[in-house]
Amino acid sequence: MPADLFSPTKLGSIALKNRIVMAPLTRNRAGKGNVPQPINAEYYAQRASAGLIITEATPISPTAHGYPATPGIHEPEQVEGWKLVTKAVHDKGGKIVLQLWHVGRISHPSLQPGNALPVAPSAIKPAGQAFTYEGLQDFVTPRALAIEELPGIVADYAQATRNALEAGFDGVEIHAANGYLLDQFLRDSTNRRTDEYGGSIENRTRLLLEVTQAVVDVAGADRVGVRISPLNPFNDISDSNPQALFNHVADSLSPFGLAYLHVVEGGMGGGDIPPFDFSALRRHFKGGYIANLGYDKAKGNAAIASGHADAVAYGSLYIANPDLVERFQQDAPLNTPDQATFYGGDAKGYTDYPTLQG
Ligand code: PHB
Repeated sequence: MPADLFSPTKLGSIALKNRIVMAPLTRNRAGKGNVPQPINAEYYAQRASAGLIITEATPISPTAHGYPATPGIHEPEQVEGWKLVTKAVHDKGGKIVLQLWHVGRISHPSLQPGNALPVAPSAIKPAGQAFTYEGLQDFVTPRALAIEELPGIVADYAQATRNALEAGFDGVEIHAANGYLLDQFLRDSTNRRTDEYGGSIENRTRLLLEVTQAVVDVAGADRVGVRISPLNPFNDISDSNPQALFNHVADSLSPFGLAYLHVVEGGMGGGDIPPFDFSALRRHFKGGYIANLGYDKAKGNAAIASGHADAVAYGSLYIANPDLVERFQQDAPLNTPDQATFYGGDAKGYTDYPTLQG
């Protein structure tokens, strides 16, 4: 029988009981000090029948934060909080990796240590507004990182990886997508540096590769994935030649022997996207391929049957359907996600979506 969403597989050394992946989803329900709480453990454990859970994006350091109530992985209390999550998921037979996040310029002084400016490859202000504890506020012009500061950022990724392994995660995913720090370095709309981290595609890819090396040195390549979003304009980002850029990214990540490349195959807000050959990324990258964005059961099965993807990540469907695997298996109706409770709040719209059992 050809493989489908329900076939087991391995991504690096991570064994998946099926190929249905819970995509990383920001939910803004961490406790004081950005510490994961029992309700967060309950939420993830409800979704443990997924072949793999990727946590919500998780700031690696105090300056990596850009939203209220996102759970960090840089303080001992946060590591203890995440232990509740990994234990609850493992007790139900699930696998879970932590997504390592630095937001770069997508932040606000009120979310930064000492009310400092957010940091970025270049001092270019994003259009739009930041979500802060005081409501929406205009983005500010970030401070361009000095080249001497970059080793410290790389070291923060390494330490966050050590913390994630201590917390019991099965691996980590480097967030290089959606207009956050590593994506800001990759793209020529946000990176105007004139040193060896800016200019050519090779230079713009350099920080991602240094971060990947540091994370691999801690975790081993077979437990590390990378997420990219070549066409996503989210967070006011673009590039003059995304195909060349991301073919190079896939080529240069390939020799690490990573567990997987996770690709957001379009723009998160919907709408028209320019032509892009995602299968080229698949060819350029030796390792697993997780496809994401706009997939349903039929499209997911087709992507696996054709060899386009090894696994498929579902985002909004996983918000509303803790038992998405069982619903797909039984062709059962799906709950509709409630946008009003996506970001912040309590159990409503978080742990109260019904399963088929009620
Ligand atoms: C969000 O908070 O809306 C968000 C966070 C991380 C992402 C994408 C969106 O990668």
